[in-house]
Amino acid sequence: MADKIRVKNVAKSFGTSRGALPVLEGIDFAVGDGDFVALVGPSGCGKTTLLNIIAGFERPDEGEVSIDGIPVTGPSPRGIVISQLGSVFPWLTVRQNVMFGLRGQPIAERRRLADHYAHLVGLEGFENAYPHELSGGMLKRVEVARALAPRPEILYMDEPLAALDALTRFRMRLELRRILAQERPTCLLVTHDVEEAIHLADRILILSARPARIEGIVDVPFPHPRKLSSPEAVQLKEDILRTLGA
Ligand SMILES: Nc1ncnc2c1ncn2[C@@H]1O[C@H](COP(=O)(O)OP(=O)(O)O)[C@@H](O)[C@H]1O
Ligand SMILES: [Mg+2]
Repeated sequence: MADKIRVKNVAKSFGTSRGALPVLEGIDFAVGDGDFVALVGPSGCGKTTLLNIIAGFERPDEGEVSIDGIPVTGPSPRGIVISQLGSVFPWLTVRQNVMFGLRGQPIAERRRLADHYAHLVGLEGFENAYPHELSGGMLKRVEVARALAPRPEILYMDEPLAALDALTRFRMRLELRRILAQERPTCLLVTHDVEEAIHLADRILILSARPARIEGIVDVPFPHPRKLSSPEAVQLKEDILRTLGA
């Protein structure tokens, strides 16, 4: 399959009061069109920085990122980020939040699309609810709906489920699989949760501690729905944790 994302030999340091802090070194990989790739690595290793560089919000010091063969020089509406912190507007309803990313279309069409995506993520009946009336898991659904409504080619997810309790996180993983199987954007997921990566991704890039380098790349060949307690999945998790030095 053609490369959707190509990351070529990317390096990045931040200037701090105590001198340069090297964060990324020699990062080189490709993501095929429609693939789901997870980046796992210890806290503070540079995962968010790498995602921000790929999404065009930061510039690398060395190397280059290209999407469909075209160098990235800034953010593009073809890619959308779902972050850990969440970015649902508290003063807008569910429908208005989902409509927010849809510009340049008649209002009736935006409403129709917003309701379609609200239903897709399981928020039917809550179109007119405000965020304070929703649970953490439902807020996450609003975010997923808002990210998908403009039909992005690439979905960047930075620890999207980290703020949820364990049970809701597990449910949302299953939901993400279901939803993304229907929409099929290229997905790049940053997580420190190895199980989440095994549950969701086709391929996992294992990053070292800072400065992050690629320590290993593993394929996840198990068909969906995946059983994380299967001997193969448990073995894969152990292998990844060992590569991470845990
Ligand atoms: N804008 C910045 N200026 C200075 N240091 C930064 C900046 N952004 C991130 N860092 C530092 O870079 C390192 C990697 O950060 P980050 O990419 O957020 O890690 P991760 O997402 O893997 O937890 C951390 O030590 C962080 O403090
Ligand atoms: Mg981060």
